[in-house]
Amino acid sequence: MKELITLGEFVIQQQHKHAAATGDLSQIFGAIRLASKLVHREINKAGIADITGAAGLENIQGEQQQKLDVYANEKFKAALAARGLVCGIASEEEEHFVEFDHELNKGSKYVVLIDPVDGSSNIDVNVAVGTIFSIYKRKSAADGPVELDDFLQPGTEQVAAGYVIFGTSTMLVYTTGDGVNGFTFDPSIGVFYLSHPDMQAPESGNIYSVNEGNYIHFHDGVKRYIKYCQEYDPATNRPYTSRYIGSLVADFHRNLLKGGIYFYPSYANNPNGKLRLLYECNPIAWLAEQAGGRATDGNGTRILDIKPTELHQRTPFFVGSVSMMDDVERFMVQERARLERMAELA
Ligand code: AHG
Ligand code: MN
Ligand code: MN
Repeated sequence: MKELITLGEFVIQQQHKHAAATGDLSQIFGAIRLASKLVHREINKAGIADITGAAGLENIQGEQQQKLDVYANEKFKAALAARGLVCGIASEEEEHFVEFDHELNKGSKYVVLIDPVDGSSNIDVNVAVGTIFSIYKRKSAADGPVELDDFLQPGTEQVAAGYVIFGTSTMLVYTTGDGVNGFTFDPSIGVFYLSHPDMQAPESGNIYSVNEGNYIHFHDGVKRYIKYCQEYDPATNRPYTSRYIGSLVADFHRNLLKGGIYFYPSYANNPNGKLRLLYECNPIAWLAEQAGGRATDGNGTRILDIKPTELHQRTPFFVGSVSMMDDVERFMVQERARLERMAELA
């Protein structure tokens, strides 16, 4: 029988490859693993436990918090605080960053940014949701208080990032800048096993994922790309197939395995799109790049190069297989050039 490697074993083995590694990440992953198992348990009895529905509160972004948003946020926060390596977290569900100021966390070197439940609107209807996390080394002195700037680092500075997908099975997928590996949870013994070593984004694909209900509001470059996806051309495998779950983690995970593109562009009422740079786009962008894909704002800027100015900052987001990213960007560039020409003529 094939020898299975657990997530814990894998993280330790990876650490041994890097002489300077301290074992810190292995402990932080221990906390993420524990909280993920607790969330897995709640999600899997969502229909019968009192965990579905709204919590009756709004988060800082004016979104209805679901009970599971609140539950997951608390569990990740508690698990990360309890190991003493993290000095603070920033979460979609918290207006400000949270400092861990217990004796245990004094001198801790890392900060974690997290979307505790991604795709919350899917909880009550039994559709896949996820958790997204991003880990940085703090910039401020380890013996002082954690500062906002510790969280406002560009994605290129991430030391680890990943997601947990609670789908037909529960999986944890992560990178530390040395490729992407996926682990499937065996609930009978409570262990994540390496099931998807060295994940690679196909160079091309035939899935496009976008909320087409917003079509009327999109930039003409985006509209033209969507039409291109729908045109008949067997030589390029078109028309593509449209798949949109409404959970970024699930949409991205499917496209990573099968080849595809996901985009949430800016449009009139949402000039910066909807997705949050720090705890949604940056970790997913790094995973995409590490798997051989690409992620930009659709306007020529690499997501990981954006210098954040706010905790809950949004950005338009385009991510996926490289040849599909090239195509969509070509449409965006052409449209911008057309608009410039029209402005010159006017
Ligand atoms: P969250 O549940 O953490 O607020 O994130 C929801 C995000 C993302 O997961 C998803 O891709 C997108 O919102 C869906 O938005 P629309 O319903 O506007 O398509
Ligand atoms: Mn989200
Ligand atoms: Mn969320």
